[in-house]
Amino acid sequence: MNIILGVSGGIAAYKSAELARAFMERGHAVQVVMTAAAEEFIQPLTFAALTGRKVITSLFGSRTSEEVLSSSVEHVRVAQEGDVLVVAPATANVLAKFAHGLADDFLSTLYLAFEGRVVLAPAMNTNMWRHAATIRNLEALRARGHTIIEPEEGMLACGTIGPGRLADVEKICDAALTAPLRDLEAETILITAGPTQEPLDPVRYISNRSSGKMGFALAAAAVARGARVILISGPVHLDTPRGAELVRVRTAVEMRDAVMKHLAESTIIVKSAAVADYHAANVSGQKLKKKAERLSLELDPTPDILAELGQKKGGRLLIGFAAETQRLLEEARRKLKSKNCDMIAANLVGQDNTGFESDENEVVLALSTGEAINIPRGSKRAVAERIFDEALRLRLALHAVR
Ligand code: PMT
Repeated sequence: MNIILGVSGGIAAYKSAELARAFMERGHAVQVVMTAAAEEFIQPLTFAALTGRKVITSLFGSRTSEEVLSSSVEHVRVAQEGDVLVVAPATANVLAKFAHGLADDFLSTLYLAFEGRVVLAPAMNTNMWRHAATIRNLEALRARGHTIIEPEEGMLACGTIGPGRLADVEKICDAALTAPLRDLEAETILITAGPTQEPLDPVRYISNRSSGKMGFALAAAAVARGARVILISGPVHLDTPRGAELVRVRTAVEMRDAVMKHLAESTIIVKSAAVADYHAANVSGQKLKKKAERLSLELDPTPDILAELGQKKGGRLLIGFAAETQRLLEEARRKLKSKNCDMIAANLVGQDNTGFESDENEVVLALSTGEAINIPRGSKRAVAERIFDEALRLRLALHAVR
Protein backbone atom coordinates (compact mmCIF):
# COMPACT_ATOMS: atom_id res chain seq x y z
CA MET A 1 0.00 0.00 0.00
CA ASN A 2 1.18 3.58 -0.63
CA ILE A 3 0.80 5.53 2.57
CA ILE A 4 1.07 9.30 2.74
CA LEU A 5 2.10 10.20 6.28
CA GLY A 6 1.36 13.83 7.15
CA VAL A 7 3.22 15.16 10.17
CA SER A 8 2.15 18.43 11.73
CA GLY A 9 3.78 20.45 14.48
CA GLY A 10 3.37 19.05 17.95
CA ILE A 11 5.45 17.44 20.66
CA ALA A 12 4.13 14.07 19.46
CA ALA A 13 5.82 14.54 16.05
CA TYR A 14 8.68 12.29 17.19
CA LYS A 15 6.19 9.40 17.48
CA SER A 16 5.47 9.72 13.74
CA ALA A 17 8.95 8.35 13.15
CA GLU A 18 7.88 5.17 15.00
CA LEU A 19 4.71 5.17 12.89
CA ALA A 20 6.68 5.47 9.65
CA ARG A 21 8.88 2.59 10.80
CA ALA A 22 5.81 0.48 11.70
CA PHE A 23 4.36 0.98 8.19
CA MET A 24 7.69 0.14 6.56
CA GLU A 25 8.09 -3.00 8.68
CA ARG A 26 4.71 -4.19 7.46
CA GLY A 27 5.86 -3.83 3.88
CA HIS A 28 4.22 -0.54 2.87
CA ALA A 29 5.71 2.42 1.02
CA VAL A 30 5.61 5.68 2.98
CA GLN A 31 5.77 9.21 1.62
CA VAL A 32 6.19 11.71 4.44
CA VAL A 33 4.83 15.24 4.15
CA MET A 34 5.78 17.64 6.94
CA THR A 35 4.31 21.02 7.79
CA ALA A 36 6.66 23.89 8.56
CA ALA A 37 5.72 23.64 12.25
CA ALA A 38 6.57 19.92 12.31
CA GLU A 39 10.14 20.78 11.24
CA GLU A 40 10.51 22.68 14.50
CA PHE A 41 10.06 19.38 16.36
CA ILE A 42 11.78 16.77 14.17
CA GLN A 43 14.23 16.78 11.26
CA PRO A 44 13.03 15.66 7.80
CA LEU A 45 16.27 13.67 7.61
CA THR A 46 14.94 11.26 10.25
CA PHE A 47 11.97 10.36 8.03
CA ALA A 48 14.08 10.29 4.85
CA ALA A 49 16.41 7.76 6.50
CA LEU A 50 13.49 5.63 7.71
CA THR A 51 11.48 5.65 4.49
CA GLY A 52 14.23 5.92 1.89
CA ARG A 53 12.34 8.77 0.23
CA LYS A 54 12.74 12.51 0.01
CA VAL A 55 10.47 14.17 2.57
CA ILE A 56 8.15 16.86 1.22
CA THR A 57 8.23 19.99 3.34
CA SER A 58 6.92 22.86 1.24
CA LEU A 59 4.76 23.72 -1.72
CA PHE A 60 7.35 25.85 -3.51
CA GLY A 61 10.61 24.52 -2.10
CA SER A 62 12.59 24.61 -5.35
CA ARG A 63 14.62 27.47 -6.76
CA THR A 64 14.49 27.40 -10.59
CA SER A 65 11.26 28.36 -12.33
CA GLU A 66 11.00 24.89 -13.91
CA GLU A 67 11.41 23.24 -10.53
CA VAL A 68 8.85 25.60 -9.01
CA LEU A 69 6.42 24.70 -11.79
CA SER A 70 6.86 20.95 -11.33
CA SER A 71 6.71 21.18 -7.51
CA SER A 72 3.51 23.25 -7.75
CA VAL A 73 1.66 20.21 -9.13
CA GLU A 74 3.52 17.66 -7.01
CA HIS A 75 0.70 17.58 -4.45
CA VAL A 76 -1.62 16.27 -7.17
CA ARG A 77 0.84 13.53 -8.14
CA VAL A 78 1.41 12.49 -4.51
CA ALA A 79 -2.36 12.56 -3.91
CA GLN A 80 -2.98 10.32 -6.93
CA GLU A 81 -0.37 7.78 -5.87
CA GLY A 82 -1.48 7.45 -2.23
CA ASP A 83 -3.95 4.81 -1.01
CA VAL A 84 -4.40 6.28 2.43
CA LEU A 85 -3.55 9.64 3.98
CA VAL A 86 -2.62 9.41 7.65
CA VAL A 87 -1.95 12.58 9.61
CA ALA A 88 -0.27 12.00 12.97
CA PRO A 89 -0.07 14.11 14.94
CA ALA A 90 -2.91 16.21 13.54
CA THR A 91 -2.89 19.55 15.31
CA ALA A 92 -5.99 21.68 15.93
CA ASN A 93 -4.73 23.93 13.12
CA VAL A 94 -4.53 21.07 10.61
CA LEU A 95 -8.01 19.84 11.60
CA ALA A 96 -9.38 23.36 11.10
CA LYS A 97 -7.70 23.73 7.71
CA PHE A 98 -8.96 20.35 6.51
CA ALA A 99 -12.48 21.00 7.83
CA HIS A 100 -12.71 24.35 6.05
CA GLY A 101 -10.76 23.48 2.90
CA LEU A 102 -7.90 25.95 3.40
CA ALA A 103 -4.95 25.11 1.19
CA ASP A 104 -1.89 27.15 2.14
CA ASP A 105 0.83 24.51 2.39
CA PHE A 106 1.70 21.15 0.85
CA LEU A 107 -0.25 19.00 3.33
CA SER A 108 -3.50 20.99 3.20
CA THR A 109 -3.28 21.29 -0.61
CA LEU A 110 -2.60 17.58 -0.92
CA TYR A 111 -5.62 16.86 1.32
CA LEU A 112 -7.96 18.66 -1.09
CA ALA A 113 -6.54 16.78 -4.07
CA PHE A 114 -6.67 13.40 -2.29
CA GLU A 115 -9.59 11.05 -2.98
CA GLY A 116 -8.64 8.05 -0.84
CA ARG A 117 -9.20 7.16 2.77
CA VAL A 118 -8.18 9.68 5.43
CA VAL A 119 -7.11 8.76 8.96
CA LEU A 120 -6.45 11.57 11.43
CA ALA A 121 -4.78 11.12 14.80
CA PRO A 122 -5.15 14.40 16.68
CA ALA A 123 -2.88 15.45 19.53
CA MET A 124 -3.15 18.73 21.38
CA ASN A 125 -3.76 20.41 24.71
CA THR A 126 -6.93 19.20 26.50
CA ASN A 127 -8.66 22.58 26.32
CA MET A 128 -7.96 22.83 22.59
CA TRP A 129 -9.36 19.31 22.13
CA ARG A 130 -12.54 20.24 24.00
CA HIS A 131 -12.96 23.63 22.35
CA ALA A 132 -16.27 24.03 20.51
CA ALA A 133 -14.38 24.98 17.33
CA THR A 134 -12.34 21.75 17.38
CA ILE A 135 -15.46 19.68 18.14
CA ARG A 136 -17.22 21.23 15.16
CA ASN A 137 -14.24 20.70 12.86
CA LEU A 138 -14.05 17.04 13.92
CA GLU A 139 -17.77 16.63 13.26
CA ALA A 140 -17.31 17.97 9.73
CA LEU A 141 -14.36 15.63 9.13
CA ARG A 142 -16.24 12.61 10.51
CA ALA A 143 -19.23 13.51 8.35
CA ARG A 144 -16.88 13.21 5.35
CA GLY A 145 -16.21 9.64 6.42
CA HIS A 146 -12.68 10.24 7.76
CA THR A 147 -11.45 8.01 10.57
CA ILE A 148 -10.50 9.91 13.72
CA ILE A 149 -8.23 8.09 16.15
CA GLU A 150 -9.11 9.92 19.33
CA PRO A 151 -6.23 11.04 21.55
CA GLU A 152 -5.55 9.30 24.84
CA GLU A 153 -5.79 10.72 28.34
CA GLY A 154 -2.69 11.39 30.37
CA MET A 155 -0.17 13.99 31.45
CA LEU A 156 0.45 16.33 28.51
CA ALA A 157 3.63 18.24 27.69
CA CYS A 158 1.97 21.42 28.97
CA GLY A 159 1.44 19.82 32.39
CA THR A 160 -2.34 19.37 31.97
CA ILE A 161 -3.90 16.00 32.69
CA GLY A 162 -6.67 14.99 30.28
CA PRO A 163 -7.32 13.84 26.72
CA GLY A 164 -4.87 15.12 24.10
CA ARG A 165 -1.97 12.63 23.90
CA LEU A 166 -1.40 11.06 20.51
CA ALA A 167 -2.99 7.59 20.38
CA ASP A 168 -0.82 4.51 20.50
CA VAL A 169 1.30 4.10 17.35
CA GLU A 170 0.12 0.49 16.81
CA LYS A 171 -3.51 1.64 17.04
CA ILE A 172 -2.96 4.33 14.38
CA CYS A 173 -1.09 1.84 12.22
CA ASP A 174 -3.90 -0.75 12.50
CA ALA A 175 -6.58 1.83 11.71
CA ALA A 176 -4.68 3.01 8.63
CA LEU A 177 -4.17 -0.50 7.31
CA THR A 178 -7.61 -1.89 8.11
CA ALA A 179 -10.19 -1.59 5.40
CA PRO A 180 -13.01 0.75 6.49
CA LEU A 181 -16.07 -0.93 7.91
CA ARG A 182 -18.58 -1.47 5.08
CA ASP A 183 -20.95 -3.71 7.03
CA LEU A 184 -24.07 -1.70 6.10
CA GLU A 185 -23.57 -1.94 2.35
CA ALA A 186 -26.63 -4.16 1.86
CA GLU A 187 -28.92 -1.83 3.84
CA THR A 188 -31.26 1.01 3.03
CA ILE A 189 -31.62 2.90 6.29
CA LEU A 190 -34.48 5.28 6.92
CA ILE A 191 -33.51 7.81 9.59
CA THR A 192 -35.70 10.53 11.01
CA ALA A 193 -34.03 13.54 12.63
CA GLY A 194 -34.68 16.91 14.19
CA PRO A 195 -37.84 18.45 15.58
CA THR A 196 -41.20 18.91 13.95
CA GLN A 197 -42.90 22.31 13.90
CA GLU A 198 -46.66 22.36 14.41
CA PRO A 199 -48.17 25.67 13.22
CA LEU A 200 -50.63 27.69 15.29
CA ASP A 201 -51.02 30.41 12.71
CA PRO A 202 -48.94 31.63 9.73
CA VAL A 203 -46.14 32.92 12.01
CA ARG A 204 -46.15 30.75 15.15
CA TYR A 205 -45.57 27.11 15.86
CA ILE A 206 -45.08 24.54 18.65
CA SER A 207 -41.75 22.73 18.56
CA ASN A 208 -38.92 21.41 20.76
CA ARG A 209 -35.16 21.72 21.29
CA SER A 210 -34.00 18.97 18.90
CA SER A 211 -31.07 20.18 16.77
CA GLY A 212 -30.97 17.12 14.51
CA LYS A 213 -27.36 16.35 15.55
CA MET A 214 -28.15 12.80 16.73
CA GLY A 215 -30.05 11.89 13.58
CA PHE A 216 -27.45 13.45 11.27
CA ALA A 217 -24.66 11.61 13.15
CA LEU A 218 -26.57 8.36 12.56
CA ALA A 219 -26.89 9.23 8.88
CA ALA A 220 -23.17 10.06 8.54
CA ALA A 221 -22.17 6.81 10.28
CA ALA A 222 -24.50 4.73 8.11
CA VAL A 223 -23.29 6.35 4.86
CA ALA A 224 -19.65 5.81 5.87
CA ARG A 225 -20.42 2.13 6.49
CA GLY A 226 -21.84 1.76 3.01
CA ALA A 227 -25.61 2.09 3.52
CA ARG A 228 -28.05 3.91 1.30
CA VAL A 229 -29.50 6.48 3.69
CA ILE A 230 -32.85 8.24 3.42
CA LEU A 231 -32.74 11.04 5.98
CA ILE A 232 -36.14 12.53 6.78
CA SER A 233 -35.57 15.65 8.79
CA GLY A 234 -37.55 18.40 10.40
CA PRO A 235 -36.16 21.97 10.20
CA VAL A 236 -32.48 21.98 11.32
CA HIS A 237 -29.34 24.01 10.55
CA LEU A 238 -26.88 21.24 9.76
CA ASP A 239 -24.88 20.19 6.71
CA THR A 240 -26.35 17.07 5.13
CA PRO A 241 -23.90 14.14 5.35
CA ARG A 242 -22.48 13.58 1.87
CA GLY A 243 -24.27 10.66 0.23
CA ALA A 244 -27.43 10.81 2.36
CA GLU A 245 -30.73 11.50 0.56
CA LEU A 246 -32.38 14.32 2.48
CA VAL A 247 -36.16 14.68 2.62
CA ARG A 248 -37.15 17.90 4.34
CA VAL A 249 -40.41 18.00 6.29
CA ARG A 250 -41.93 20.39 8.77
CA THR A 251 -44.84 18.83 10.64
CA ALA A 252 -45.46 15.43 12.25
CA VAL A 253 -48.05 14.66 9.55
CA GLU A 254 -45.51 15.47 6.81
CA MET A 255 -42.91 13.32 8.56
CA ARG A 256 -45.37 10.44 8.84
CA ASP A 257 -46.24 10.66 5.14
CA ALA A 258 -42.56 10.78 4.09
CA VAL A 259 -41.69 7.81 6.34
CA MET A 260 -44.56 5.69 5.00
CA LYS A 261 -43.65 6.66 1.41
CA HIS A 262 -40.10 5.30 1.86
CA LEU A 263 -40.93 2.38 4.15
CA ALA A 264 -40.97 -0.26 1.39
CA GLU A 265 -37.40 0.60 0.33
CA SER A 266 -35.91 0.37 3.82
CA THR A 267 -34.32 -2.51 5.72
CA ILE A 268 -33.60 -0.64 8.97
CA ILE A 269 -35.53 2.30 10.41
CA VAL A 270 -34.10 4.60 13.06
CA LYS A 271 -36.52 7.11 14.58
CA SER A 272 -34.37 9.69 16.31
CA ALA A 273 -36.63 12.63 15.46
CA ALA A 274 -38.31 14.48 18.29
CA VAL A 275 -41.82 14.43 16.86
CA ALA A 276 -44.29 16.80 18.51
CA ASP A 277 -46.93 14.77 20.36
CA TYR A 278 -49.68 17.36 19.78
CA HIS A 279 -50.66 19.85 17.11
CA ALA A 280 -53.24 22.63 17.08
CA ALA A 281 -56.79 21.36 16.59
CA ASN A 282 -57.46 24.40 14.41
CA VAL A 283 -54.68 26.28 12.66
CA SER A 284 -55.63 29.91 12.18
CA GLY A 285 -55.35 31.17 8.61
CA GLN A 286 -54.52 34.65 9.94
CA LYS A 287 -52.05 35.78 12.60
CA LEU A 288 -53.72 35.34 16.00
CA LYS A 289 -54.39 38.71 17.62
CA LYS A 290 -53.43 39.42 21.22
CA LYS A 291 -56.84 39.97 22.81
CA ALA A 292 -57.45 37.93 25.96
CA GLU A 293 -55.47 37.89 29.23
CA ARG A 294 -55.17 34.15 28.92
CA LEU A 295 -55.25 32.09 25.76
CA SER A 296 -56.09 28.39 25.73
CA LEU A 297 -55.01 26.20 22.88
CA GLU A 298 -56.90 23.13 21.79
CA LEU A 299 -54.46 20.41 20.81
CA ASP A 300 -54.98 17.06 19.16
CA PRO A 301 -52.49 14.19 19.18
CA THR A 302 -50.20 13.88 16.16
CA PRO A 303 -49.93 10.51 14.40
CA ASP A 304 -47.66 8.19 16.38
CA ILE A 305 -45.28 7.29 13.55
CA LEU A 306 -43.26 4.80 15.58
CA ALA A 307 -46.36 2.91 16.71
CA GLU A 308 -47.61 2.74 13.10
CA LEU A 309 -44.20 1.47 11.97
CA GLY A 310 -44.38 -1.16 14.70
CA GLN A 311 -47.51 -2.51 12.99
CA LYS A 312 -46.16 -2.26 9.44
CA LYS A 313 -42.45 -3.09 9.84
CA GLY A 314 -42.56 -6.71 8.57
CA GLY A 315 -39.03 -8.12 8.67
CA ARG A 316 -37.38 -4.69 9.06
CA LEU A 317 -35.38 -3.76 12.12
CA LEU A 318 -37.17 -0.94 13.95
CA ILE A 319 -35.15 1.27 16.29
CA GLY A 320 -36.92 3.97 18.26
CA PHE A 321 -35.55 6.58 20.62
CA ALA A 322 -36.87 7.62 23.99
CA ALA A 323 -36.20 11.03 25.47
CA GLU A 324 -36.69 10.74 29.21
CA THR A 325 -35.99 12.77 32.32
CA GLN A 326 -36.09 9.77 34.68
CA ARG A 327 -36.40 5.94 34.84
CA LEU A 328 -34.58 5.56 31.53
CA LEU A 329 -34.53 1.78 31.15
CA GLU A 330 -38.04 1.29 32.51
CA GLU A 331 -39.48 3.80 30.03
CA ALA A 332 -37.38 2.38 27.20
CA ARG A 333 -38.72 -1.12 27.84
CA ARG A 334 -42.28 0.17 28.05
CA LYS A 335 -41.95 1.93 24.64
CA LEU A 336 -40.16 -1.08 23.16
CA LYS A 337 -43.17 -3.25 23.92
CA SER A 338 -46.03 -0.82 23.32
CA LYS A 339 -44.62 0.28 19.91
CA ASN A 340 -43.40 -3.18 18.84
CA CYS A 341 -39.80 -2.05 18.31
CA ASP A 342 -36.66 -4.18 18.15
CA MET A 343 -34.56 -1.65 19.99
CA ILE A 344 -35.07 1.59 21.88
CA ALA A 345 -32.17 3.99 22.43
CA ALA A 346 -33.07 5.94 25.54
CA ASN A 347 -31.31 9.15 26.47
CA LEU A 348 -31.66 11.50 29.39
CA VAL A 349 -32.89 14.92 28.39
CA GLY A 350 -33.12 18.13 30.36
CA GLN A 351 -29.41 17.97 31.26
CA ASP A 352 -26.38 19.73 29.82
CA ASN A 353 -24.02 17.73 27.59
CA THR A 354 -26.39 14.91 26.58
CA GLY A 355 -29.66 14.59 24.67
CA PHE A 356 -30.98 17.71 22.99
CA GLU A 357 -28.61 20.13 21.21
CA SER A 358 -25.36 18.82 22.70
CA ASP A 359 -22.47 17.35 20.69
CA GLU A 360 -22.33 14.31 22.96
CA ASN A 361 -24.83 11.74 24.10
CA GLU A 362 -25.10 8.77 26.41
CA VAL A 363 -27.76 6.13 25.85
CA VAL A 364 -29.07 2.88 27.20
CA LEU A 365 -30.29 0.42 24.59
CA ALA A 366 -33.27 -1.76 25.47
CA LEU A 367 -33.41 -4.73 23.11
CA SER A 368 -36.30 -7.02 22.27
CA THR A 369 -34.13 -9.91 23.47
CA GLY A 370 -34.43 -8.48 26.99
CA GLU A 371 -30.85 -7.23 27.01
CA ALA A 372 -29.91 -3.73 28.16
CA ILE A 373 -26.69 -2.16 26.87
CA ASN A 374 -25.15 1.01 28.21
CA ILE A 375 -23.39 3.18 25.66
CA PRO A 376 -21.19 5.54 27.65
CA ARG A 377 -20.94 9.23 26.97
CA GLY A 378 -19.18 10.05 23.71
CA SER A 379 -19.64 12.09 20.56
CA LYS A 380 -23.01 11.55 18.86
CA ARG A 381 -21.09 9.94 15.98
CA ALA A 382 -19.46 7.44 18.37
CA VAL A 383 -22.88 6.66 19.90
CA ALA A 384 -24.34 6.26 16.39
CA GLU A 385 -21.61 3.76 15.46
CA ARG A 386 -22.38 1.70 18.57
CA ILE A 387 -26.11 1.74 17.81
CA PHE A 388 -25.42 0.24 14.37
CA ASP A 389 -22.95 -2.30 15.84
CA GLU A 390 -25.65 -3.46 18.26
CA ALA A 391 -28.39 -3.34 15.61
CA LEU A 392 -26.48 -5.76 13.37
CA ARG A 393 -25.74 -8.03 16.34
CA LEU A 394 -29.40 -7.95 17.33
CA ARG A 395 -30.58 -8.84 13.84
CA LEU A 396 -28.31 -11.87 13.78
CA ALA A 397 -29.67 -12.93 17.18
CA LEU A 398 -33.29 -12.44 16.04
CA HIS A 399 -32.70 -14.44 12.84
CA ALA A 400 -31.10 -17.23 14.88
CA VAL A 401 -34.28 -17.68 16.96
CA ARG A 402 -36.68 -17.45 13.99
O1 PMT B 1 -31.62 16.37 17.74
P1 PMT B 1 -30.64 16.45 18.90
O2 PMT B 1 -30.52 17.85 19.43
O3 PMT B 1 -29.31 15.84 18.56
O4 PMT B 1 -31.24 15.61 20.12
C1 PMT B 1 -31.36 14.22 20.01
C2 PMT B 1 -32.65 13.73 20.63
C3 PMT B 1 -32.62 13.99 22.13
C4 PMT B 1 -33.86 14.42 20.00
C5 PMT B 1 -32.74 12.19 20.30
O5 PMT B 1 -31.61 11.54 20.86
C6 PMT B 1 -34.02 11.58 20.87
O6 PMT B 1 -34.14 11.23 22.03
N1 PMT B 1 -35.03 11.45 19.99
C7 PMT B 1 -36.39 11.00 20.34
C8 PMT B 1 -37.14 12.17 20.92
C9 PMT B 1 -38.59 11.80 21.24
O7 PMT B 1 -39.46 12.28 20.60
O8 PMT B 1 -38.72 10.91 22.20
P2 PMT B 1 -40.15 10.37 22.75
O9 PMT B 1 -39.78 9.56 23.94
O10 PMT B 1 -41.09 11.50 22.92
O11 PMT B 1 -40.67 9.48 21.56
C10 PMT B 1 -40.39 8.08 21.49
C11 PMT B 1 -40.23 7.66 20.05
O12 PMT B 1 -41.47 7.83 19.36
C12 PMT B 1 -39.18 8.39 19.24
O13 PMT B 1 -38.48 7.47 18.44
C13 PMT B 1 -40.00 9.35 18.39
O14 PMT B 1 -39.33 9.61 17.14
C14 PMT B 1 -41.28 8.56 18.18
N2 PMT B 1 -42.49 9.37 17.98
C15 PMT B 1 -42.96 10.20 18.95
C16 PMT B 1 -44.13 10.91 18.75
C17 PMT B 1 -44.83 10.73 17.54
N3 PMT B 1 -45.94 11.39 17.31
N4 PMT B 1 -44.36 9.90 16.61
C18 PMT B 1 -43.22 9.21 16.81
O15 PMT B 1 -42.78 8.43 15.94
